[in-house]
Amino acid sequence: MSTNLRAIRADITTLDVDAIVNAANTSLLGGGGVDGAVHRAAGRGLLDECRTLGGCPTGGATITGGYRLKARHVIHAVGPVWHGGDRGEPELLASCYRRALELAVEHGLRSIAFPSISTGVYGYPIERAAPLAVSTVGEFVVRDATIREVIFCCFSGSDLAVYERVLGPT
Ligand code: AR6
Repeated sequence: MSTNLRAIRADITTLDVDAIVNAANTSLLGGGGVDGAVHRAAGRGLLDECRTLGGCPTGGATITGGYRLKARHVIHAVGPVWHGGDRGEPELLASCYRRALELAVEHGLRSIAFPSISTGVYGYPIERAAPLAVSTVGEFVVRDATIREVIFCCFSGSDLAVYERVLGPT
C-alpha cells in the first residue's frame, strides 16, 4: 500500500504522530512562529537538548525528543529565507524536507507532520513552496515505504486550500 499524504488545518503541536517537523533556524535555539509554539508546548527539556546540538545548516535537519508533546520526536528542519528565488531557495527547501524524511526513516518512524516550512517569517511564497514540498515528499516515499503517513499541517485556511489543490482529489 502506498504512503498516505494529506493536508489538514491544525496546530502542529497537538498532533499525535511519531514526529512533528519544526521550521527552525540555524541556531536551533527557538524563535517565533511554529518554532516558538513547538518550544512552548514541548517545554524546557527540548531547549536543553537543542543547546547540545551546535546548530544546523540551512537545508538540513536534526532530530530530538518530543518531551511534553504527544509527538515522540521533533525534527528541526531549517528552510531558506526567500530572496526572490535565484539564491538556491528551491534546492534548500527540498533539501530540508528530504533530510527530515531521511531522519524519520533512520529512526524507523511511521508518521510525520510537516508545517509549511519557510512560508512564514522566511517569506517563501506558499504557491511555490507547497508544490515543491508535495513533490519532494512524494518522490521520497515512492522509493522508501518506511513512512506510512505524511501530514501537511497548515495553520490557515488559505494555506490548506493551496495544499489541497496541489495534492488533488483523494
Ligand atoms: N502549527 C502549524 N503551523 C504553524 C504554527 C503551528 N502552531 N504556527 C505557525 N505556523 P514560520 P519559517 C505556520 O514563520 O517561515 C521562526 O522564528 C505559519 O503560519 O513559523 O520557516 C524560526 O525560529 C507558516 O505557514 O517559519 C525561524 O527563525 C509556517 O508555520 C523562522 O521563524 C511557517 O512559518 C522560520 O521561518
